[in-house]
Amino acid sequence: MSTFLDAAHPETPPAGTTRFRPAVHFTARDTWLNDPNGLVFHDGLYHLFFQNNPYGNVWGNMSWGHATSSDLLHWTEHPVAIPCDETEDIFSGSVVVDHGNTSGFGRADAPALVAIYTSAYKTASEHSGTQAQSLAYSTNGGMTWRKYEGNPVLSRNSPHFRDPKVFRYEGNQGACWVMVAVEAQHQKVVFYRSEDLRSWDFLSEFGPANADAGEWECPDLFPLPVDGDPDNIRWVLIVNVNPGAVAGGSGGQYFVGDFDGVRFVPEPGSLVAPAGLSSFADPEARSAALRQCLWLDWGRDCYASVSFSGASDGRRIIIGWMNNWDYANELPTAPWRSSMTLARELRLTAVDGSARLVQQPVLPEPHGREEPPAAAGISTAGPFELRNEALRLQDAVPGRAQIIEAEILAGTADRIAFRIFGSSDGTAGTILSYNPATAQLSLDRRQSGNIGFHGKFASIESAPLVLEDGLLKLQIVVDHCSVEVFAQGGKVVLTDLVFPEAEHLHTWLSAQGGPATVLNLAVSTLT
Ligand code: FRU
Repeated sequence: MSTFLDAAHPETPPAGTTRFRPAVHFTARDTWLNDPNGLVFHDGLYHLFFQNNPYGNVWGNMSWGHATSSDLLHWTEHPVAIPCDETEDIFSGSVVVDHGNTSGFGRADAPALVAIYTSAYKTASEHSGTQAQSLAYSTNGGMTWRKYEGNPVLSRNSPHFRDPKVFRYEGNQGACWVMVAVEAQHQKVVFYRSEDLRSWDFLSEFGPANADAGEWECPDLFPLPVDGDPDNIRWVLIVNVNPGAVAGGSGGQYFVGDFDGVRFVPEPGSLVAPAGLSSFADPEARSAALRQCLWLDWGRDCYASVSFSGASDGRRIIIGWMNNWDYANELPTAPWRSSMTLARELRLTAVDGSARLVQQPVLPEPHGREEPPAAAGISTAGPFELRNEALRLQDAVPGRAQIIEAEILAGTADRIAFRIFGSSDGTAGTILSYNPATAQLSLDRRQSGNIGFHGKFASIESAPLVLEDGLLKLQIVVDHCSVEVFAQGGKVVLTDLVFPEAEHLHTWLSAQGGPATVLNLAVSTLT
């Protein structure tokens, strides 16, 4: 939910804003948004800058919008931070806190926030036809920004060089700034280094590799310990790809490997196609290999995920854009359009000997959530046997997000299914189901409500999921127009948008083909 602090915007949202407006996912008040930009934690506040059209609710006039939050769930929208002008659109990028005042934009005792963004030059610019990296800085905690007069600071005379993510790298030779960016149409991540954020030296490049059917966008690179072991650090390189992601259209892949301050070297286990899947002649082998790549999310609607800089205690928290370029401009909401995913904390864990990401949504502990309104005859406490009869859970509640947590022993069931945003006759709804025989978790939105606004919207997505000691563990966050599924403690994530009928608020759980045992089942809500 967002509030807007700007005299130009009245307190009361205009009519039409509430339909599908999420409770705990960020949306702009009455405009368009896409990628999260400049995610930074500073002075107790999370800043979310974002690709924004301040003048409309389709993509265009790209500028950096701005919102802040203290809990990553409830956001306050602020006036546009870096607006486009007649010479440039402000494309995606990142923000760092320049603690050492290396850039000279702040003071040693009052560090500036420095935004590194892509100038997408327009015809009125002398750089027209190129994309290059530029700086803006803030000396008041991110609330207002000034562009650096020496922009751009890094150009390759390329039309598709964008999305810089900058971080402080501490190596044997001392500390420096490292930038990861993309040559989007060459499916390459490019690495640069700088002492002062103003001048940049080329280090190396990576790619194409794995999913390379579309443009590479919005990269990120960071270290994480494997299972919390500080002596076992791996580097994670996130590369968003559009189109050509596993569920179709836009999506985020990642590689696990090492970064020595110059070069990223992936572990062999995260390289399914070292020269890129486009090098596969056989389409069947290509689609099988696409499913072997490492995906942040197996759903249709999680793109451009990047992480916060400066999050405390070494936490690595990402936010994605909950949308897909396949149909993004047509989503049936107004006047706002598009939202972010929940913030998700990333960890690395060993899975069959290889380091893999797990994601947990950033949510209050259960005692910090609300009890859903009690509905007569509905019991969700385990353990109990689940048979053919569908069990009705608490309804979704308008104005609140619903969190469903379940641990289910699959037993002899051949299908375990949740129907979310269901109609009372049990026909319509979004179906989340697990099939033990195929070991696939599927999210089916073909009967989810309004699917007609775009030909590519109706879809069913699936992810490989291995039961652990026979157990299926699910955390499902349902919020007005989205279903985010974190399975097996976050090893498998599926995110889909859905646009249900207003009265389709029922949730059911069923097992088919044999009984399953529900060990735990809890429903809570958040506003
Ligand atoms: C990704 C992207 C970025 C670009 C921005 C423009 O969704 O295409 O590569 O910087 O959106 O809005």
